[in-house]
Amino acid sequence: MTPIIAPSILSADFTKLGEEVESVLAAGADWIHVDVMDGRFVPNLTMGPLVVEALRQRFDCTLDVHLMIMEPERYIDAFARAGASIITVHAEATPHVHRALQQIRQAGCRAGLALNPATPLSAAEWVAADFDLLLLMTVNPGFGGQALIPAVIEKVRQARAWLDGLGRRDVEIEVDGGISPATIGEAAAAGASVFVAGSAVFGEADRREAIARLRAALSS
Ligand code: DX5
Ligand code: ZN
Repeated sequence: MTPIIAPSILSADFTKLGEEVESVLAAGADWIHVDVMDGRFVPNLTMGPLVVEALRQRFDCTLDVHLMIMEPERYIDAFARAGASIITVHAEATPHVHRALQQIRQAGCRAGLALNPATPLSAAEWVAADFDLLLLMTVNPGFGGQALIPAVIEKVRQARAWLDGLGRRDVEIEVDGGISPATIGEAAAAGASVFVAGSAVFGEADRREAIARLRAALSS
């Protein structure tokens, strides 16, 4: 699978969001990762469908929307209408994971399922046919700039083997949190194919150099 670099706008300068997104796309970013937080599922508040809609009006790139909100089914249609390409929900955030994943596909988006670091892979077992992407959190969600939790690397390995065994080689495994030139290589070796990077991209003045360093570390 071709590695995908998805800068998270959580670490962008919000006073000039359009230019920030423009700069990372021009620097070779593949997707734009949008972190939506509700102050309940995670102890932080960020953005809603209005931001996705504004980005969609200006950019035709893949908008990878990560919902860190309780009962995400309440907002799936709004994010789909706003122009999300992929919508990811957390298994811990709803008793109706299957319904939420179905709702995402019915709304015309690719469906993602996210698991927190402590959530076992078995939470994904009975909905394996219902997602296109499995997001394994490599930090506890809520904030950018945290260190990757090393134990999750083994979880990535087991997830890749499990999905391959099911014949689901098409499912992307996305890692999110603490991805940098120092950590991206081991995540890739374990089987991840989508790499969210917030501070490692937006925290660097030279975005082209930042993305090039991530790609170089992928293949080293
Ligand atoms: C964490 C978010 C991440 C975060 C990643 O709750 O889901 O996308 O922005 O930021 P870094 O790359 O700085 O760890
Ligand atoms: Zn995220």
